[in-house]
Amino acid sequence: MTGALATPRYAGAAAPISDPALGRFIAGMPKSEYHVHLEGTLEAEMKFALAKRNGMALPFADVAAMKASYVYHDLPSFLAIYYDGMKVLQTEADFRDLAYAYLARAASQNVIYAEMFFDPQEHLKRGVPIAAVIGGITRARAEAQAALGIRSQLILCFVRDLSAESAMAALDAALPFKADLVGVGLDSDEAGNPPEKFREHFAKARAHGLKVTAHCDIDQPDTLRNIRTVLTDLNVDRIDHGGNIVQSPELVAIARERGITFTVCPTFSGTLRKRETVPVDVVRAMLDAGLKVTISSDDPAYMGSEYIDDVLIRAVERSKLTREELVLMARYGFEAAWLPQADKDVMIARLEAYVKAG
Ligand code: HPA
Ligand code: ZN
Repeated sequence: MTGALATPRYAGAAAPISDPALGRFIAGMPKSEYHVHLEGTLEAEMKFALAKRNGMALPFADVAAMKASYVYHDLPSFLAIYYDGMKVLQTEADFRDLAYAYLARAASQNVIYAEMFFDPQEHLKRGVPIAAVIGGITRARAEAQAALGIRSQLILCFVRDLSAESAMAALDAALPFKADLVGVGLDSDEAGNPPEKFREHFAKARAHGLKVTAHCDIDQPDTLRNIRTVLTDLNVDRIDHGGNIVQSPELVAIARERGITFTVCPTFSGTLRKRETVPVDVVRAMLDAGLKVTISSDDPAYMGSEYIDDVLIRAVERSKLTREELVLMARYGFEAAWLPQADKDVMIARLEAYVKAG
């Protein structure tokens, strides 16, 4: 095995903004991120590097051709590309390099804390041991914290369109490493895979001290039913996406009452909207409904390589967000961290000091 890949260096945000001062404010603001799939940060350049290191052939001539293939129109067509792309991840070093690259880029944009998803079932299917997956990511977390000051935690996602047995096997395999995990989540294709399919998994994770979150992707079949289930039956600690909730004042009231935070990814929400059932402007609709919204980048490698600063800038433009709203969402983010209150208070104090100085 050869050594670690060089950590890429990145320039600042590139998305156009009509108020450059607000762009600078965003860039400098201490931020957190809760909805980022590590495998969704696997950039085309790194895919080629890992394929070379692992002696694998890729069906693309170059990075541009690979990126040109990232064309999708709904969740299943996105997921097909995303799962195919992660096959180059084979060794502990691969997972370390993947996670470190994300953390380095996030830190360069003043993300001071991140909770990151990963999809172990997909790696176990390919015969990669869970110790390599979690071990590599955990090493990257420690190295990034020491070198760059970014703190992070890890959320194990159940791939909801695989069998319940496969999800339980992944949880059981991961539990010996539970000290390296903070929670479990639920991602992948929601159609026909309602959250209650994972009732036992969530209960077991909780019994082991893990937190629980779940994707309720935009415009899925039975979306309101599924949002109700996670809110009132499975009692999740957070909801990922969840924008269709604005269609139900009753569910909005429950979410507000429970103080639920929504990790919203406007890039994805905008891309995947097929029907006119939810406003294009999900962030605005949710904020105006009085919901706790925090913004994340989801799968940036497949979404124009736009990381958090670009995502926030696009959200500002689309949703006409004010500086106060950006600060409010940043605060919702730190308050939603799965960390001791004292640690959250330190991060909130950093945010407040920044706002005061700005
Ligand atoms: N939704 C569902 N599954 C996913 C996503 C998402 O946003 N990203 C990666 N897997
Ligand atoms: Zn997601």
